[in-house]
Amino acid sequence: MRRVLVTGGCGFIGSNFVRMLLAEEPAAHVVNLDLLTYAGNPRNLEDLEDSARYRFVHGDVRDEVLAEELVRDADWIVNFAAETHVDRSTPAKAGEFIETNVYGPYVLLDALRRTQNAARFLQVGTDEVYGSISPPARPREDAFLNPSSPYSASKAGGDLQALGFHRMLGMDVIVSRSTNNYGPYQYPEKLLPLFITNALQDEPLPLYDGGTQIRDWLWVDDHCQALLLLLREGQAGEIYNVGANQEPEITNGELTRILLRLLGKPESLIHPVDGLRPGHDQRYAVDTSKVRALGWAPSVELEEGMERTVAWYQARRDWWEPIKSGEYRDYYRRHYRFEAKG
Ligand code: DAU
Repeated sequence: MRRVLVTGGCGFIGSNFVRMLLAEEPAAHVVNLDLLTYAGNPRNLEDLEDSARYRFVHGDVRDEVLAEELVRDADWIVNFAAETHVDRSTPAKAGEFIETNVYGPYVLLDALRRTQNAARFLQVGTDEVYGSISPPARPREDAFLNPSSPYSASKAGGDLQALGFHRMLGMDVIVSRSTNNYGPYQYPEKLLPLFITNALQDEPLPLYDGGTQIRDWLWVDDHCQALLLLLREGQAGEIYNVGANQEPEITNGELTRILLRLLGKPESLIHPVDGLRPGHDQRYAVDTSKVRALGWAPSVELEEGMERTVAWYQARRDWWEPIKSGEYRDYYRRHYRFEAKG
């Protein structure tokens, strides 16, 4: 039996990972520790509720007692628990990001130290820690860290905490850094699910700052496969970039127009807005040769992945329509200064 503690497993990437892990590792048993903040949704894993190999624990990664109890029995610990949205990481909210993204991994790692369990700890990170990258550069894992927001600065802090535990105590720690994920169950505050669901409601798509920015879009299952490979074969104390390395690279504006074509909706839905993301990074890109040397490669091309994503959101209005009310509406009104349709 392989006992896996996943934190933040009710979020987007976490829930896709839990489902994939249980399918790929018949001996795996998963405990999912999740606080169910606004982006954590138990419905993301409702199909597993009756599985004897899955257990949900409602709780906080910053709870030292709970953390110690849960890490004690784990063979692998995968830390997805994080505040993830750049637009929400205003200076006034930075403390919440530091609490979860820096203090959270510290509590888990220190609990692991106290139990003297030699479990492998995978800290799931982001390419945003390298900051905006001028073309054609693609930073390797040892590149300078240059985060532009409280969000990415806190993720850099989490990575460094984890690596510090490896260096000081020899703990079995790995850090991954992925580019932008997309696919089913992504909370509709991120670009793709926001634009898909708005377009399905004939609502404006708020395209920031001319839409010239570049992101490297990775199908979520390809990311999850890379994480599983790192758990199985990664080297302790190492960092691994994970990304699709799209060729040619694609701007947000081009991506939006492909989406509208797939949805059969007019480009007049695009609503240009400036200044909503101070310090907006122009381009992200990473060198992924290290994870590829372990045998990983992305399997889903962008347009194919976008078709699947669009089809999923078209079919799962029952999932996203309830989200686009309540807390989401308040956030939307506050941030975009116009109404979201409930
Ligand atoms: O690179 C990995 C990162 O990808 C993760 O670490 C983050 O948790 C994740 O949120 C994502 O960060 P981004 O800031 O790149 O994702 P987001 O979907 O918020 O924005 C993608 C691009 O789209 C970015 O250039 C800003 C733009 N955008 C975003 C929103 C929400 C818009 O033009 N309009 C929008 O309404």
